[in-house]
Amino acid sequence: MDYLSYSKNYLMNTYGQFPVVFTHGKGCKLYDTEEKEYLDLTSGIGVSSLGYGNEEWIKAVTDQAKNLAHISNIFLNIPELTLAKKLTEASGMSKVFFGNSGAEANEGSIKLARKYSYLKYGKGRSTILTLNKSFHGRTITTLKATGQEKFHKYFDPFTEGFKYTDVDVKSLEAAIDPTVCAIMMEAIQGEGGVYPLPKEFIDKVFEISKKKDILVIFDEVQCGMGRTGKLFGYMNYGVEPDIVSTAKGLAGGLPIGAVLCNKKLENTFVPGDHGSTFGGNPISTAGANCVVDTLKKPGFLDDVAKKGAFIKNFFKKASSKNVLEIRGIGLMLGIQLNSEKSSEVQKKALENGILVLTAGSSVVRLLPPLVISEQELESVLSSLVKIIDEI
Ligand SMILES: Cc1ncc(COP(=O)(O)O)c(C=O)c1O
Repeated sequence: MDYLSYSKNYLMNTYGQFPVVFTHGKGCKLYDTEEKEYLDLTSGIGVSSLGYGNEEWIKAVTDQAKNLAHISNIFLNIPELTLAKKLTEASGMSKVFFGNSGAEANEGSIKLARKYSYLKYGKGRSTILTLNKSFHGRTITTLKATGQEKFHKYFDPFTEGFKYTDVDVKSLEAAIDPTVCAIMMEAIQGEGGVYPLPKEFIDKVFEISKKKDILVIFDEVQCGMGRTGKLFGYMNYGVEPDIVSTAKGLAGGLPIGAVLCNKKLENTFVPGDHGSTFGGNPISTAGANCVVDTLKKPGFLDDVAKKGAFIKNFFKKASSKNVLEIRGIGLMLGIQLNSEKSSEVQKKALENGILVLTAGSSVVRLLPPLVISEQELESVLSSLVKIIDEI
């Protein structure tokens, strides 16, 4: 079957896609239509955190599919309720709303923050402050929330009420005005180049927010669900946000998104304020229960942190002439090249059976499945360093 022509003829031209069609996977390995094997360091952009073909996850999802695939939100279902309990308990947050994607979770977070502010301060205090280099999604609102000018073209008019600050205390202080109701940020900026936020900056955000009753929203869509060796990326900073958006890795390969809120906001939404047909879908939430149970297994998250340190050490020891630094936390890492050749590395790696991501033109981004072993890492990293050395 000529699938590549199908892609050209029938799919909208929205992604720069490689001419590889994957058919199956096992563990951290993926196989294409030619049965070529690849070692995956991408997890489908932070989604397949348990790898491929995980037996427990398959059982949870298929058992649920056999019993009940969907029921509307005017009724209740067991996997959704179980997940709500597990997620709120594990995070220390109060309540959760389920949707389908990261952008949708951020939309929900923004609505929640604006309603809280409206009820308390009245109309007009609705600005959401976000960070330059951030990424928050592809809907009209979350594109505008994204602090990168290149995303603010073509699709006018965008949703109003966003302001941006550099990751810098002076810029932050200058951006705060009486209309700001919330600050939204990624603990580690993913698409923007894999930049963990400095602790002093986050502390300042919390100091100002506390003083002015501004809500703090963490967009944990990419760096959440165990990716950094903690349940959420912000937990590396010892802070407690008001709202958390999560998605990607939450269900280990099924569409899901979630908005978590603390006690302060638990009664802000009332029936009619928000909803989503597939939100809390039994199959997605069954997959998510399996992911949360796995993250809670003793030592699992510590191992994620250890494997992250292993990768960093590997690159330090290899001291490739083309690598300036490797940054990130846990298994969310960015290899900063000394040239704008991240796409070249990605292409060569693919030819050599290794899947990596980029984050801009000079950063090779790694988001391996959280279950990858040190042995797998050892061999794949040797090949990757060689590829980077040769560009
Ligand atoms: C931090 C962050 N927020 C939001 C999104 C959007 O998520 P989705 O593509 O599931 O809508 C992404 C996707 O890359 C992301 O990395």
